[in-house]
Amino acid sequence: MNAVGKHQYRDIEDMNVNKPVEPAVLPAEEELDQFAAFEKSGFDGTVGKVTSDDPCMAAKNVDVFYAEKHAIIDVSVDLGRNEVLSMIGPSGCGKSTFLRCLNRMNDTIDICRVEGDIQLDEEDIYNKQMDVVLLRARVGMVFQKPNPFPKSIYENVAYGPRIHGLAASKTDMDEVVETSLRKAGLWGEVKDRLDTPGTGLSGGQQQRLCIARAIAVSPEVILMDEPCSALDPIATAKIEELIDELRKNYTIAIVTHSMQQAARVSQRTAYFHLGYLVEVGETDDIFTNPQHKLTEDYITGRFG
Ligand SMILES: Nc1ncnc2c1ncn2[C@@H]1O[C@H](COP(=O)(O)OP(=O)(O)OP(=O)(O)O)[C@@H](O)[C@H]1O
Ligand SMILES: [Mg+2]
Repeated sequence: MNAVGKHQYRDIEDMNVNKPVEPAVLPAEEELDQFAAFEKSGFDGTVGKVTSDDPCMAAKNVDVFYAEKHAIIDVSVDLGRNEVLSMIGPSGCGKSTFLRCLNRMNDTIDICRVEGDIQLDEEDIYNKQMDVVLLRARVGMVFQKPNPFPKSIYENVAYGPRIHGLAASKTDMDEVVETSLRKAGLWGEVKDRLDTPGTGLSGGQQQRLCIARAIAVSPEVILMDEPCSALDPIATAKIEELIDELRKNYTIAIVTHSMQQAARVSQRTAYFHLGYLVEVGETDDIFTNPQHKLTEDYITGRFG
């Protein structure tokens, strides 16, 4: 790669990655509640089927540390291909931390250390040969707050394909941009204003633009960390419909604080508590017939 290429990579990486990573900070009381419930539950390993018959990603015995803090403890779970996995649990339980392991976003946090094995299509994503920039194209990410580049709508989508060399001509690029915007359910709303700034769109549109940007580099997996938490109910509904549509072509992991949302968009649900994966299973089962007391307490609103 030439120097300019490298610079451009940094640029897109900075915009995507160097968002302030906000660690969850729990009120002491709530943390004590969570500890007390955990102690009482006699947790003895994840309940439910952690593997998938057709895994796109597979995490095995993953531990994450922030300096001394053990934030993820021995978590194993698969992301089934063309499936939406939702990750739920009280604040500080490690949902974002675990999600960020899946495309090595935690690499950008100095004090963070990841152990264990995470595979994408049976390849260890933490192996030394792995090109992290390419990995993050294959495993794209959508953040809580929409973060379009300060560029035109067209350029927001074209940027990734350009630096990854995915479009040979202007016509090709136009097609990638249109297809990505269509898949993100935004084309109709923006096709006449592609040259206007992405930041001029509404919040919900900006989030769909960020989804289009992730799609434009043909990912296999899309990670979403509370993608609707800054959106109104109508914009949220649009994103939820979109997630269901996207599942046909991508594998999706979504962190959400809304149990209704998890129930609406996902086929499998994983419940985290204090860094442990307590339970994972079919979404319908988790919400109607949770096996673990901690899961039950959470979904019935006893904490979190
Ligand atoms: N950059 C960081 N530096 C230090 N500690 C961190 C960092 N990020 C997360 N942590 C700690 O790791 C634990 C898990 O945090 P994480 O942000 O993954 O939780 P979360 O489940 O996403 O919470 P929330 O629902 O509030 O977003 C918390 O104890 C948090 O304080
Ligand atoms: Mg979080």
